[in-house]
Amino acid sequence: MCGILGYSGDRQASGILLAGLERLEYRGYDSAGIAVLSGGKIKVAKNKGRLKVLEDRINSGEEVSGTCGIGHTRWATHGEPSDVNAHPLWSDDMTVVLVHNGIVENYRELREKLSQKGYTFYSQTDTEAAVKLIDYYYKQEHNPLKAITRAIKDIEGSYCFVMLFKDCPDEVWGARKDLPLIAGQGKDESFLASDVSAILHDTRDVYYLDNMEIVRLKKGDVRFFDGEGYATHKEISTVTWDSNAAEKGGFEHFMMKEIHEQARAVKDTFGAVYHSGKIDLTEKGLDDEAIKNISQIYIVACGSAYHAGAVAQYVIEDLTKIPVRIEMASEFRYRNMPMDKNALAVIISQSGETADTLAAMRRAKENGIKTLGIVNVVGSTIAREADSVFYTMAGPEIAVATTKAYSAQLVACYALAVKFAQVRGTLDDGECARLIEEIQSLPGKIDEILDERGSLEELAKRFVNAKNAFYLGRNIDYAVAMEGSLKMKEISYLHSEAIAAGEMKHGPISLIERGMLVTGIITQKNLYLKTASNMLEAKSRGGFILVVSMRGCEALKDEADFVFHVPETDCHFSASLSVIPLQLLGYYVAVARKLDVDKPRNLAKSVTVE
Ligand code: G6P
Repeated sequence: MCGILGYSGDRQASGILLAGLERLEYRGYDSAGIAVLSGGKIKVAKNKGRLKVLEDRINSGEEVSGTCGIGHTRWATHGEPSDVNAHPLWSDDMTVVLVHNGIVENYRELREKLSQKGYTFYSQTDTEAAVKLIDYYYKQEHNPLKAITRAIKDIEGSYCFVMLFKDCPDEVWGARKDLPLIAGQGKDESFLASDVSAILHDTRDVYYLDNMEIVRLKKGDVRFFDGEGYATHKEISTVTWDSNAAEKGGFEHFMMKEIHEQARAVKDTFGAVYHSGKIDLTEKGLDDEAIKNISQIYIVACGSAYHAGAVAQYVIEDLTKIPVRIEMASEFRYRNMPMDKNALAVIISQSGETADTLAAMRRAKENGIKTLGIVNVVGSTIAREADSVFYTMAGPEIAVATTKAYSAQLVACYALAVKFAQVRGTLDDGECARLIEEIQSLPGKIDEILDERGSLEELAKRFVNAKNAFYLGRNIDYAVAMEGSLKMKEISYLHSEAIAAGEMKHGPISLIERGMLVTGIITQKNLYLKTASNMLEAKSRGGFILVVSMRGCEALKDEADFVFHVPETDCHFSASLSVIPLQLLGYYVAVARKLDVDKPRNLAKSVTVE
């Protein structure tokens, strides 16, 4: 979704803004723009399309000089992608110029009120109502802080605004509600960004703005205010993420690089809770007493995080006997479900900013349910608002299609499952020790699979013109089928469906045509034969049968068109291995189709609107 930047210092703002926006490109966008304040005037340059188009138009920034500015990459919500709708947007006389991430829900009403006061509107955006509203109050107050505090009282919805006022040299103002905004502190300069990776090259000292907080940059001076305009004090944090982690490091795409970082992500995530031979979750707010009291677990997430939760549902239920429900955050947030007060809500999110996931977590909290965030981005809103947080150690993930964060989420859930089972006595110590060893062996096995990627690269070429694909599985294998299918569709645009194998006969089978890719994930010993017979039904209707199973599994070895064996592991943890060939297959099909793997059309890395 939209990327946001602000800069005030001694250097030329345009170069810093363009470089920062480039680092935010991965979020997904359709237009880009910057505005620079200099000599009491604000100059804006913006257009539909890639950042490169903007860079060329303004001669890499040279045409827009000044040391204080704001930048934006837009992911359209209100109004098509166009030069006019691109941000920054301005008030009628260019007194206020603003960029926005989020949605001003009552923009129609605000536009009507402002039109009555003589304002005219040139774009189809919701954002234009916000910039004109701030301008309206600024004309009365002659003070940015007062104008912002009055305006945000009238605005409904979610926002991160960053703005310039033409009469306020060197000042950049920002305000946030439900969307992230980070302030970076350098020497004699300061930054605002929607995402820490945009400013990591310039500073590691950051402040995380709280909800409804306002910030003012003035060169090296950063000040904060609450929603009423009173000054607040904030602690500075140092980001430990390696800025090189956000570079491709010799790989053609971030996605492939991140696929290769999975073994490390899994090892580090488990290592964060495994000390001296034991899984310790006390720092995550889960001591033995708390674990014993859990009556029910709700796992709430979106997208791939939901798929990781779907795996976790089977694993936790089987190992701990605690009832687990996996819930899509976008549904959970609007349901009137009776919730057990002793339940634990596990909120899974890479970004920690997904709008639906955040709202679902707040809903659980309103119901008095304890919340545990499994989150990758340090300092993100979900991480800060959850009762406790278990950080996955995937490091910055840039490719829109998640791989290493998903793998890290899985292992975080395994750690919960084994610890809960041990504390609640559903497994004995010996069995827990064996499972821990299995978890520790996963990174090596993931790397073994990557060494065999060549066969999948070859296989992918067959499907360069394919139109449809099915992914079948049962139990954990079904949860992995969902993730494999998503990987395929999101980056290769090949229509793909995940089907609980037993459901195929209830409709989807009518779609099978000669040569259609039907992938069966077959790792659960007790279900080998069940899924295998569903795969045979697909084969007898002409499907191309790809089987992903564990070494030693003989199912369909003669009937399948292609078999990929992953190393053996305990069946509870098979998802960590079986997902790898599916990620690779999606990647190689997208590459064979010459698609933009890291930035698939219409998708965003962090979905900050409903
Ligand atoms: C987007 C991303 C997915 C991600 C989902 C949930 O759709 O493209 O990769 O799984 O959002 O994001 P989160 O940051 O909450 O894990």
